Amino acid sequence: MRTRVEELLSAMTLEEKAGQLTQYFSFGLHEDDAAVGPSPQRPGEVEDALARGGAGSLLFVTDPAETNRLQRRAVEGSRHGIPLLFGFDVIHGLRTIFPVPIAMAASWDPATMERGQAVAAREARAVGIHWTFAPMVDVARDPRWGRIVEGAGEDPHLGAAVAAAQVRGFQGERLGAPERIIAGPKHFAGYGAALGGRDYDEVDLSDAQLWNVYLPPFEAAVAAGAGNVMTAYMPLNGVPATANRWLLVEVLREQWGFEGFLVSDANAVRNLVTHGFAADPTDAAARAAGAGLDLEMAMTDPAYAHLPEAVASGAVSVEAVDACVRRVLEAKLRLGLFESPYVDEERARAVLADPAHREAAREAAQRSAVLLRNEAVAGAPLLPLDPARLGSVAVLGPLADSRRDTLGPWVFDVDLDETVTVLQGLRTRLGEAVQVRCAPGVRPAQRLFPSIFDAFPGNTPPDPEGFDDEAELARAVDLAREADVAVVVLGEWQHMIGEAASRSSLELPGRQLELLQAVVATGTPVVLLLLNGRPLDLRWAVEHVPAILDVWYPGTQGGTAVADLLLGDVSPGGKLPFSWPRSVGQVPVVHSHTASHEPENQAKRYWDEASTPLFPFGFGLSYARFDHADLTLDRQSLPVGESLTASVTVTNAGDRDADEVVQLYLHQRHGTAARPVRELKGFQRVHLRAGESRTVAFTVGPEHRRYWNAAVRDVVLEASPFDVWVGGDSTAQLTATFTTTDGQAS
Ligand code: GLC
Repeated sequence: MRTRVEELLSAMTLEEKAGQLTQYFSFGLHEDDAAVGPSPQRPGEVEDALARGGAGSLLFVTDPAETNRLQRRAVEGSRHGIPLLFGFDVIHGLRTIFPVPIAMAASWDPATMERGQAVAAREARAVGIHWTFAPMVDVARDPRWGRIVEGAGEDPHLGAAVAAAQVRGFQGERLGAPERIIAGPKHFAGYGAALGGRDYDEVDLSDAQLWNVYLPPFEAAVAAGAGNVMTAYMPLNGVPATANRWLLVEVLREQWGFEGFLVSDANAVRNLVTHGFAADPTDAAARAAGAGLDLEMAMTDPAYAHLPEAVASGAVSVEAVDACVRRVLEAKLRLGLFESPYVDEERARAVLADPAHREAAREAAQRSAVLLRNEAVAGAPLLPLDPARLGSVAVLGPLADSRRDTLGPWVFDVDLDETVTVLQGLRTRLGEAVQVRCAPGVRPAQRLFPSIFDAFPGNTPPDPEGFDDEAELARAVDLAREADVAVVVLGEWQHMIGEAASRSSLELPGRQLELLQAVVATGTPVVLLLLNGRPLDLRWAVEHVPAILDVWYPGTQGGTAVADLLLGDVSPGGKLPFSWPRSVGQVPVVHSHTASHEPENQAKRYWDEASTPLFPFGFGLSYARFDHADLTLDRQSLPVGESLTASVTVTNAGDRDADEVVQLYLHQRHGTAARPVRELKGFQRVHLRAGESRTVAFTVGPEHRRYWNAAVRDVVLEASPFDVWVGGDSTAQLTATFTTTDGQAS
């Protein structure tokens, strides 16, 4: 491979090298294709670039005929016939859409995530996509930030496990394996800490926050062998991530040994000028390439087209440019693109239609759901519903029968007709015996400002013509009144979350709360189903609605899985990947805070509201009931660098089989920095039959106790007593202690 790369490099002009480092969006737009709206590119700009070897990669092409056509233009149309690398946002599926990433994280089940991304990789590779801009591994502790939906929530330990599982799913055993694609963890780094939760806004993070919270999931993704990393849009502590040498060279390459290639986010190289960091596009190109930013993701007029000028002026060396080109060429060689650059279009259609993929998506949706409340109605928990005792069900709410919203954000090329909504799932499952009637109740909430995503067809719900608000609300209430149970499907429309979709409030948008209150007032038992990607203000609902099930955006088989869950074919087993704030005023609220001053009033820090979350991190109910007992440690004292085993007996004390996620939390009682009162350091999802008991064991090693310390400005491992808690969420009370000592054998 090295020989091949050097041969190519020595034959390439500086312009061709710059071309290899340029990635263009290609929306499959032909001059007359107005469907996606006016393209910012000049007509034929991409085709011209292909002809002169001015592009090394394209993104947003998902049709196999189109990838073949463009690949042929590149291979046959340019001097060295170097094939294109096709990238795309395969975030939670390509044709078969899985639950959104925050939902998959809520399954706390790495095997489910790995299987889901393996299906996504198989579909993507079949159509000619070689690389995905995923997993998104940004820790998110501010739910105003819309991209919380794309990640794994607030915690670095869960986030690291999720990141590694997704990389394994996408890439398989080795980079370039058949039916697999290169994984590109993003956005490096700290993007989730945007000021005010406003997407793209600056990030200011202490070293302690970076090393102990925001970087670990990236390190795990790199350790799992990710072949690519995407840099983040924003400045990190004033220095744009896209040209941040400390981040891209010292941390990523020198400290973590990353050998893959880097890509910028969209237009982020050119935007180094917007940041007030680069003087002009040439300066931007020089400083990005100089920081090892290999590939520029560009829309039009790429900054990297100025690289020859930058080399001529000495702003960047040709060696630095060659180093970038080498990494891009190596990725193409590893994928075998020189030998087989094209895909079989007939086979692609068969792969996309594989029913096994839909079944995997259905199971993932079942395992992601989180049961938040399940109070008794007429003497028994309202859920699961018993079909034999149901005469009629009212399925209400604006998201009850919306296929696009059932899929969630980051979905572009999907067969909507095969998407199963909540209404369709319940109708199919309940059959003719039960009358199922539906009404939206309220109209879609409308955005205040236009977004870059409005251009994609079907992305934003139209404001229905002639929608009579009062009449529609009354109709929904009438259906509830006449039904035995009302399933109210509320949340956020999918365009209200994801990129460029931050919100200044966590309230249910539009008149949804009003609908819920009116339906509850009828006296008909209510099940609230949430379609969401961030925590929403449920203060009223938790007081008045007996059953609340969070199904996130459950994907292509979402309605089928919801019916499986509501009717008890399977019990919910998911857990929250973030602390659920009572209101936006509490943000940020996390489980791993320090004790600070006067711990006894930790729950009462606000004058007007409790400062504990509405639901704690790691929380989720079940149709069964789990007891955790007999927490034992095989060692009570050990040297700082050694490990112990913590064991606990988990019992399914319920009357039905179900899963429990057993979680382990640690607290270092003292040290040269104050440590969080609890931190997640272990979890296992186990399936227990009714009445079954099982011993679950966790290894607690130095990797769970070391941390970056602002006093000594380095990673430390300290002698201290430690508390261990084990249970079903972050408020677990079952506890034990051990002590680490400075090096003496115990
Ligand atoms: C977007 C996102 C990034 C995505 C890329 C390509 O703006 O920030 O996550 O992968 O551009 O769509």
